[in-house]
Amino acid sequence: MTYSVAIIGAGPGGYVAAIRMAQLGLNVVLIEEKKLGGICLNQGCIPTKALYSATKLLERTQDAKEMGIDFGVPTIDLGTLASWKRGIICRMVTGIKTLVEANNVTLLEARGVLNEFAQVALSTGEVIDAERIVLATGSSPVEIPGFTFADPHIWSSDDALALREIPRRLLVIGGGVIGLELATIFNRLGSKVTILEMMPEILPGIEIDRRAIATLKRSLKTQGIIVRVNSAAKSYEDTTDGLAVHMSTGESVATDRILLAVGRRPNSASIGLETLGIETDRRGFIVVDKALRTTAPSVYAIGDLVPGPMLAHKGSAEGLKLAASFVGKTYPLDYQTIPQAIFTDPEVASVGLSEARAKEEGQDVIVGRFPYAALGKAQGMRETQGFFQVVADAKSKRLLGAQIIGAEASALIAEAALAVQNGLSLGTIADTVHAHPTLPEGLKEAAEAALGRAIHAVNR
Ligand code: NAI
Repeated sequence: MTYSVAIIGAGPGGYVAAIRMAQLGLNVVLIEEKKLGGICLNQGCIPTKALYSATKLLERTQDAKEMGIDFGVPTIDLGTLASWKRGIICRMVTGIKTLVEANNVTLLEARGVLNEFAQVALSTGEVIDAERIVLATGSSPVEIPGFTFADPHIWSSDDALALREIPRRLLVIGGGVIGLELATIFNRLGSKVTILEMMPEILPGIEIDRRAIATLKRSLKTQGIIVRVNSAAKSYEDTTDGLAVHMSTGESVATDRILLAVGRRPNSASIGLETLGIETDRRGFIVVDKALRTTAPSVYAIGDLVPGPMLAHKGSAEGLKLAASFVGKTYPLDYQTIPQAIFTDPEVASVGLSEARAKEEGQDVIVGRFPYAALGKAQGMRETQGFFQVVADAKSKRLLGAQIIGAEASALIAEAALAVQNGLSLGTIADTVHAHPTLPEGLKEAAEAALGRAIHAVNR
């Protein structure tokens, strides 16, 4: 039998593509060697967010004293926490299986690689013929010299999320997204956390306003998380006082566990790319054109395998775009309008252009900011850190980007993403009635501030 489409990899790129392609009438086979949902669901986004919310609760019980509510000293049953988290993953995996089956996608549990006849050869011995093949095999964490995941002292994010222990001291190598999110969680669980970042600033690869970085760094400090920038981890040794991690600065930090979070690389090796002469760039990303076509006919690639931000929703969007293109339709994927949300305390989220990038590009922009502290809702939530910021074209007043640092920023950025993607103006956001008292009022007020007419802030 020849399928219309064979998809290798059932992460948020692959399974979303499979469902949409089936909805559009294509005969789809989805090949996955491990679990449905990929890293995001099983070892990434979802378990991290479950632990983010559980540990936020832990933190709130402590804050509550200021509101006159005393929960006493909380205790953590790591086993129950881990099994609660596993339960969430399990339910979501089952849910995806149900959806995939309900859409008549054929699901095959096997490893699939390309062969020289442009077929997919399965680890079960079966060979799959398809008119088109979509590669969606995701990415894996990278190692650095002197630190390998085979070493039991070194944790990958998977090891950290397995919740086998709460180390007394945790050293996180890499002040990127994963490093900061896991540092936040383990700090709340009680570890003394130090982050080493080799670049001059945390989150160096992310386009975030420097004021937001400054706010985040202040908060990390208040939480007791030590951040050392310009400090690359070079080696470590076992000492009588735990592990001594040696840095590029010549100094050392003592710790009980090391979490390595220095980036991820695409899983493009050993999927048979060479058999069809499919090109990769020097970092291993598969070279694709705007239509996500690889250099081999009828073979496509999406998600972490191809250049662009390594985000689940970017992979899903590419899957939807590919599905539309397979039936002659278009899907409006604009990489500039993909939002990013970082689950630190406070959360950081952004979409579109930052003020700095707009200025670098020589765009004439106006900026509006509004602090959480001026929102009654934020005061009532005891979430007064952070701000909303909008960046708009000075002439047309069209929103080009937004940055939010503060409680629920990950959710609040959606309104800004809708506006940026659809070319809405500051006036449209400002004139949209927002329910009071709510956090989204912050975006409306920031838009008003950019226009010089904020109500709850002094306009300068
Ligand atoms: P990353 O690229 O975000 O950060 C890695 C950091 O490690 C960089 O800041 C780098 O300068 C630093 N580094 C490298 N070698 C070092 C050394 N020897 N010593 C000290 N620092 C060193 O990579 P990360 O955090 O592993 O995340 C991987 C990907 O997954 C990213 O693209 C990220 O955006 C994505 N992701 C996104 C999430 C979200 O949007 N909420 C959540 C988790 C991952």
